Amino acid sequence: MAFPQSFIDELLARNPIEDVVGQHVHLKRSGANMFGLCPFHGEKTASFSVAPDKGIYYCFGCHKGGGAINFVMELEGLSYPDAVRSLAKRSGMEVPEDEQYQSRYRQQERLWALHKEAARFFHSQLYAPIGKSALEYALGRGMSKSTLTKFGIGYAPDSWDMLVKAMEIKGYTRQELIDSGLVTVSKKNGNIFDRFRDRLMFPIIDTRGNVIGFGGRIMNNNDPNAAKYLNSPETLIFNKRKNLFGLNYAKKSQLGYLILVEGYMDAIALHQYGFDCAVASLGTSLTEEHAVLISRYVEQVVLIYDGDEAGQRATRRAIPILEKAGIRVKVLQMRDAKDPDEYLKKFGADKFRLLLEDSANRVEYQLSAIRKKYDLSVDDQKVRYVHESAELISTLGSSVQREIYGNRVAESAGISFEAMKLEIGKAYKRRLQQEKKAQEKIDLTPAKNLQPKVRTIRYDNMKSAMAEEGAIAMVLQDPALMDKAKNLTGGQFSVPVLGKVYDQLLAMHQKGMEVTLAALTELTPEETSHVVGICQHREGPVNETAFDDCVATILRTSQASSITSDDDLMKFRNKLKESKGTKP
Ligand code: GTP
Ligand code: MN
Repeated sequence: MAFPQSFIDELLARNPIEDVVGQHVHLKRSGANMFGLCPFHGEKTASFSVAPDKGIYYCFGCHKGGGAINFVMELEGLSYPDAVRSLAKRSGMEVPEDEQYQSRYRQQERLWALHKEAARFFHSQLYAPIGKSALEYALGRGMSKSTLTKFGIGYAPDSWDMLVKAMEIKGYTRQELIDSGLVTVSKKNGNIFDRFRDRLMFPIIDTRGNVIGFGGRIMNNNDPNAAKYLNSPETLIFNKRKNLFGLNYAKKSQLGYLILVEGYMDAIALHQYGFDCAVASLGTSLTEEHAVLISRYVEQVVLIYDGDEAGQRATRRAIPILEKAGIRVKVLQMRDAKDPDEYLKKFGADKFRLLLEDSANRVEYQLSAIRKKYDLSVDDQKVRYVHESAELISTLGSSVQREIYGNRVAESAGISFEAMKLEIGKAYKRRLQQEKKAQEKIDLTPAKNLQPKVRTIRYDNMKSAMAEEGAIAMVLQDPALMDKAKNLTGGQFSVPVLGKVYDQLLAMHQKGMEVTLAALTELTPEETSHVVGICQHREGPVNETAFDDCVATILRTSQASSITSDDDLMKFRNKLKESKGTKP
């Protein structure tokens, strides 16, 4: 979705950064800038800065930064177009929607409305005579009446067209029904019929409160081939990889963390028992998109996957994905029950709360994973168990932790704590040596220190990347420099995101608009923060000579890049010849 640049320009002019931020953060002026407590990470001293003249904010603590639009996106979890709309509304501006976007948005709105109607329809069927056994099933599984209402649980009757008919009466077209995924099209005659039949229905609701899809559970086992759960297909409004069941409620929880479970029923049971921070993935494994979504609301997740092998595998997969998004992970292992739903019913909320408080952190989980790999009745396996555990424990910063976990391993291996301590000490020294070597390597190639903190951006050619950073920082201060470098475009940059930024700045300049970071579009929040960070940290001279140097470096690298690879190819070929020649 592209808004006209002139509109964005005016939007930013009418929404000064200090006002937009000022609504949420108490700012104090200090020189040209203003400072306050960062709204994106907990802190006691103000490292969050706003530069009214540049129209940007930047946090020196968590390195988030951007313009007014980014601020609203980040703080309110909005998409770019929605943040633009929110700012437009705030300043009483009319949003020029382009034709294509408008029709797409209208289509989405229709699908949201259709889904809401469908949810109402299913819910009412649960209390109709036709839904008697479904209601009995739901109550039999322990869902209370108020839970049924809260989650809008429903029943899709055992019929080919009850939903189709009900929606047609409401004015939805055949095409809209097809687009919604709630019907399937007969291959034989092209007729449409209800996708969900004779299933208990779970509406899936996004964080803005729109019903975007359904999960339907089978209630009898007449057909051994039928899937236990049937989910809505991907549609214009539903993407399994980006949504979590229950997040519409969990995001409001006061508990400060999320509980992530496998099943709809687990999430619902947790809510009913007072753990209102539970969410479930929708029959897919956890994705990076899920993790990013979660990181908007909490910094900690308790993972509770089923105790079986598949659940353990899913847990191991999920941990690094969550950690990459900056989330701390605790793992709760189910014992004496197959999933949280079953556990709560068997043992109740208090027992579950104890389990939760005691829930294994990452170390405990990893230790028990190591433990499972070895048969401790065999001596050399025991040695390897101790060895590998010691390696893990040696990475812990706290001596108390090292002692606690060391003791545990010593006990399970039947060795003394002294012996274990020695092992941990050895592992620690080995690691220090390795780290020292690694550090030496970095010191010898200082460029490595300059890699962006943002993991999605890599600088492959450090020299060119530094020149690109420099060029961007300089043209922001003196856009006229761009007139001097007619043959430089973003396509020549070695770092794609920096190239994209340069092209946008160039476009602003050529249209005679103010050249500002605040007007950048199509960047992820991470990318925006990175770019803003560059300009905050860079303090080089801003003049034609310095700029020309940067441009020359960029152009040289861009022209040389193809030659280098051919060069490499030649070297490789020569090596190959050599090695063949020395063969006896
Ligand atoms: P109950 O058996 O009713 O307690 O449900 P559950 O939520 O405990 O389900 P289970 O542990 O069997 O599966 C966990 C999740 O995986 C479910 O909530 C679904 O999202 C998904 N799932 C399970 N079975 C199927 C299936 O047959 N098809 C699809 N698409 N998803 C499934
Ligand atoms: Mn279950």
